[in-house]
Amino acid sequence: MKTNLSFIKAARDKIQLLNQKLLPHKLDYVVCSNGADVAKAIKDMVVRGAPAIGISAAYGMYLTAWEASKKNKKLTLDLLKKQKQQLDAARPTAVNLMWATEQMLQVATPFFAGEPSKAKDAHLKLLLALYEKALEIHNDDAERCLKMSNNAVKYLLTKYPKEKYNILTHCNTGSLATGGIGTALGAIRVLHEKSKINMVYADETRPYLQGSRLTAFELLKDKIPVTLTVDSQAAYLMQKKMIDAVFVGADRIAANGDVANKIGTYSLSVLAKAHRIPFFVVAPKSTFDNKIENGDKIVVEERAAVEVLEIAGRVIAPKVPVVNYSFDVTPQVNITAIFSEDETLE
Ligand code: MRU
Repeated sequence: MKTNLSFIKAARDKIQLLNQKLLPHKLDYVVCSNGADVAKAIKDMVVRGAPAIGISAAYGMYLTAWEASKKNKKLTLDLLKKQKQQLDAARPTAVNLMWATEQMLQVATPFFAGEPSKAKDAHLKLLLALYEKALEIHNDDAERCLKMSNNAVKYLLTKYPKEKYNILTHCNTGSLATGGIGTALGAIRVLHEKSKINMVYADETRPYLQGSRLTAFELLKDKIPVTLTVDSQAAYLMQKKMIDAVFVGADRIAANGDVANKIGTYSLSVLAKAHRIPFFVVAPKSTFDNKIENGDKIVVEERAAVEVLEIAGRVIAPKVPVVNYSFDVTPQVNITAIFSEDETLE
């Protein structure tokens, strides 16, 4: 299955990131020529979604090496390590970011072992290896999306058979957030392809509105039935038996199966449990962080007050203190199953 919407255009000397802050009104690209540009784009939410920021960061590491060679500056391993630090700090919760920059560093490290090579093409070989790795991370994600989506759909159809489903989803987990058809939205796309979708209810996802600006946009583009719903309406929709299953993505999954995802995910899991509705997480292995024992240890990003006090540059509240956690942690006991590309965790 293909989607013609991609968040990135990659070339040898730059990447162009679709500016997701301007969607759905405008299709505009931000050009990044080095790792610092990419770190800024990630921090500013030009690109967002755990796998997408990982892929962008991988190209960012490559671009730093490319830029150093262009300026005839000596590329050092230290420079790449510093670049990794800057990229990793751009958004602390999504582990795909650190996972991708680490992969890139591991490709680079052997090139700096031993005596510096005098061979003219040594640097070119390093650049090629880094570019190929970034491309591999990008393309692999597309494949992973397809596999985890198929796993999720197979499970749903077997364990919760129905003619057609009403699915509730949160945030944006589609092509704008991944290298392929998406995670939770990937599963929804596969369900739609099998004519199994009655309606997708997209939470608007306050305060950043990834649901209304991005998910509604993606689903409309693919002609998948979508209805927008305010976040606080989920309980009522469930009470009225309008939801058959909840599908969400993840930013980091701890070793015990606790899941960090967009703020509001935890509330949905509690509601789903209370209404005996299956609650599913779809995420690639690059989102699993086995170094973190449980959800308590996950660093949850807090974002600026302005995101809550204003909508599209318009002030909507008096200047009072704001708490703005970008993510929350859903305990594994609230999750029916987690689907990755190669396993299903129940
Ligand atoms: O703040 P965002 O937009 O980067 O948050 C994105 C999410 O929470 C997604 O659900 C998650 O990254 C999974 S995307 C496939």
